[in-house]
Amino acid sequence: MKGKTCVITGATSGIGWASAVQLGAMGADLILTGRDERKGAALVRRLQRDRACGTAHFVRADLSVQREVRELAAAIRSRCARVDVLINNAGARFDTFLPTSDGIESTFATNHLSHFLLTLLLLDTLQAAEAARVITVASGAHSGARGDFERCFRAESYDRKAAYGSSKLANLMFAYELARRLKGTKITSNAVDPGGVATNLGRNNGIVSWLRHVGYHALKGDLLSPEKGAETIVFLASSPAAEGVTGKYFFQKREIQSSRISYDEAAAKRLWELSLDMTGLDDPMGPSYRGPTSTFLS
Ligand SMILES: NC(=O)c1ccc[n+]([C@@H]2O[C@H](COP(=O)([O-])OP(=O)(O)OC[C@H]3O[C@@H](n4cnc5c(N)ncnc54)[C@H](OP(=O)(O)O)[C@@H]3O)[C@@H](O)[C@H]2O)c1
Repeated sequence: MKGKTCVITGATSGIGWASAVQLGAMGADLILTGRDERKGAALVRRLQRDRACGTAHFVRADLSVQREVRELAAAIRSRCARVDVLINNAGARFDTFLPTSDGIESTFATNHLSHFLLTLLLLDTLQAAEAARVITVASGAHSGARGDFERCFRAESYDRKAAYGSSKLANLMFAYELARRLKGTKITSNAVDPGGVATNLGRNNGIVSWLRHVGYHALKGDLLSPEKGAETIVFLASSPAAEGVTGKYFFQKREIQSSRISYDEAAAKRLWELSLDMTGLDDPMGPSYRGPTSTFLS
C-alpha cells in the first residue's frame, strides 16, 4: 500500500482503529477521522511507532453534522489530490430518538447520510486515483430491515433495532447503487459485514446496552477482536484479489448475499433521491457517472 492514500472514518476506536493499524503496517498514507482529537493524536502516535507506516494525519469531524462532513471533505481535498481507498466505517447505535443539529435522526445521519455526502464530495479525488476502492461497513443487522426509511427515523415510530438495521440496509443499498452508477469508471464500491466485534459500539447508551450486544455474540461464540473484524476491510482495501470487484457484500473475505430488498434497484434509487434531498446535494453523478465533475463542490 506504499504511496496509496486511504481515508478511514471512525478511526478512533474499534474496527476503524484496527484497520488503520493494519493498513499503516502495509505502508499506506492515512487520513483518519473521528470526533475526539485526543484519541486521534494517540492513534497517530501509535502509527508513527511503526516505521513501515507512511504518513498519518488526523482530521476531527462530527459526521452527524453535515457542515462538518463538508469541512472534512474540504480538509481531505486540501491535503491530497487523490484518494485511493475510502473506508466508510464510522457508525453508532442510539437506544432513543435523538435529532442532530441538522434536525435529522442520529442513526441515519451518522451511519448513512454522512458517508453518502462524504463519498460524493470526494468523487473526483477518487476518480484521480489509478483505481480507487470505496468500502462501506454495513452489518448483518440489515437483514430484518424493510427499507421504510422515512418511517423508521421518525420520533413517533422510533425503534432502536429497526433504526440501526435500516441504517445498515441504507449502507448496503448505497454501496450497490454507487457501484451501478460508477460502472465503466476506475472506482469500485463494496460493502462489508465485519461480524460481531468487541468494540465500543453502543457504549453511548450505557453499559447494560453495550453488554447486551457484546454478550449476545460472546454467548453465540462468534465474538471477534477488532483486529479480526478489520480483516475483510483491509482485504478489500489492499488485496489484488479484490481488484475490479464491485457491487458486492463481503464477510470473512468471502462474497456473501445480503437481504432480498437490499438488491431492489428501485428502492435504492428512492434512497439515493432521499439522501440527495436530505443533504442538499445536486446529483453529481446522474443515473451513471463517466468522469469527474465539479457541480457538487459548491
Ligand atoms: N461491533 C460490531 O459488532 C459491528 C457489527 C457490524 C457492523 N459494525 C459496524 O462497524 C463500524 C465500526 O464500529 P465499531 O464496532 O468499531 O464501533 P466503535 O468502537 O464504537 O467505533 C465507531 C467509530 O465511529 C466513530 N463515530 C461514531 N459516531 C460518530 C460521529 N457522529 N462522527 C464521527 N465519528 C463517529 C467513533 O468515534 P468516537 O471515538 O468519537 O466515538 C469511532 O471512531 C460501524 O459502522 C458499525 O455499525 C460493527
